[in-house]
Amino acid sequence: AHAYAARSGRYTSLTRWYKGDDGALVGEIEIPMKVGTVGGPLQSNPTVALNHRLLGATSARELAMVMGTVGLAQNFSAIRALATEGIQQGHMTLHARSVALAAGASPEIFETVVERLIEGGDIKIWKAQEIVVQVKKAMRQEAGSEEPTSNAPRSQGHGKIILLGEHAVVYGSHAIAAPVPLAIEASVQDGDSGSANPGVDLIIPRWGVESRLHKDPAHRDSFQRSLGIVFDKLGLTERSLRIEVFPNVPRGMGLGGSAAMAVAVIRALDQHFKLGHTDDEINALAFECEKVAHGTPSGIDNTVATFGKPLLYRRAHEGQPLLMKPLDLSKPIPLVVGISGKESLTAKTVGGVRAAWQKNPELYENIFRQIDALTLQGVDAVQNYQLERLGDLMNVCHGLLNALRVSSWEIEEMVQICREQGALGAKLTGGGGGGSIIALAPEHPERVIAALRDAGYSGLEVRIG
Ligand code: MEV
Repeated sequence: AHAYAARSGRYTSLTRWYKGDDGALVGEIEIPMKVGTVGGPLQSNPTVALNHRLLGATSARELAMVMGTVGLAQNFSAIRALATEGIQQGHMTLHARSVALAAGASPEIFETVVERLIEGGDIKIWKAQEIVVQVKKAMRQEAGSEEPTSNAPRSQGHGKIILLGEHAVVYGSHAIAAPVPLAIEASVQDGDSGSANPGVDLIIPRWGVESRLHKDPAHRDSFQRSLGIVFDKLGLTERSLRIEVFPNVPRGMGLGGSAAMAVAVIRALDQHFKLGHTDDEINALAFECEKVAHGTPSGIDNTVATFGKPLLYRRAHEGQPLLMKPLDLSKPIPLVVGISGKESLTAKTVGGVRAAWQKNPELYENIFRQIDALTLQGVDAVQNYQLERLGDLMNVCHGLLNALRVSSWEIEEMVQICREQGALGAKLTGGGGGGSIIALAPEHPERVIAALRDAGYSGLEVRIG
């Protein structure tokens, strides 16, 4: 096309725009193209065949006309932009649109999110995510359907990612974890004091859960079992209470949802009854809940859910003391969290690793040792913003986690997508077996997120530190 445009010896336009006799705008384009509707890519690339079916063009000639029309429309848009606000502004809008898309703005709020992004001038995915939350909240309030049925104050427990060291941490190795800007919130209200049948009502409006906590632990279902511990230990099972939970951490995605929920509920109870628990006490109680939920947790999830800080963690194990060292990051680390949508139970993957270790302790302890060593190397990389180094360590850690057989089809695909899109490192995070991955993507996180979305997953830009 470029050669054709320059065929007279001077580079000229391939299009012509003018006013027709009837006053209508007429556009013409003349461009050499080889267009076919059979053979070649049609057979080898299923997307081409699908596009043909969608378009319904019956001949190569008709297809060429469609292509010409699309070319004309694009040309007209470019001329319009040049003659009005300039190409730059148009690019900014386009960029804002793709950022809004990557942030998961749904069609009904899409234009509002784009407008606010442009107004604010900070066209970043995290900003768009913030706007999405604000706009949705405003819409719910307007419709009078804001989730909470009360104005009771809410307490929080943080969601988390594990940067390096999951699974091995259960066996006394080190792990590095950090909070994500997603939290579970909970509120407590007194129920009807004169009720003939007092009890604790657990309500999660978003999940449609409304259940009365069974006073006898033996009769509790799996959801009630772990939170029930809190009410047993605090002696509250006979009280008339209404507990509402707002789960902003997706369920079963390896982002520490169960620990965050336990911490949020414990904090809400602590606030409501003015119990004055310290963070250490809250953490210890949440750990009890985690034991019920996961069997043999290391305690890392509840620790991050409670303290909300990046930390190096090692559980107390075989005589070695507990280590909970907050990490001091020189600069926040830019990550993309890829969420597979496939729920997985940490208890199951942790149990699987345990069974494999019991069968062949030497083989697996060797892997745990390697994960431990690379996690310790990661501390420096995390604190001093050595991203290439950190990326390498994440990649190797993922290989070792794969060796522990806690990966899955979805995880492997997401890791591959992120690496192809330029991530310096990508690995599963948390329990695995589905759930989520993290990718170190300092440049173009929006591309990584868009590619994850194209493959049917979702992505979230987060900054750690
Ligand atoms: C889960 O977020 C992390 C695991 O290492 C389990 C644990 O540490 O309790 C898989």
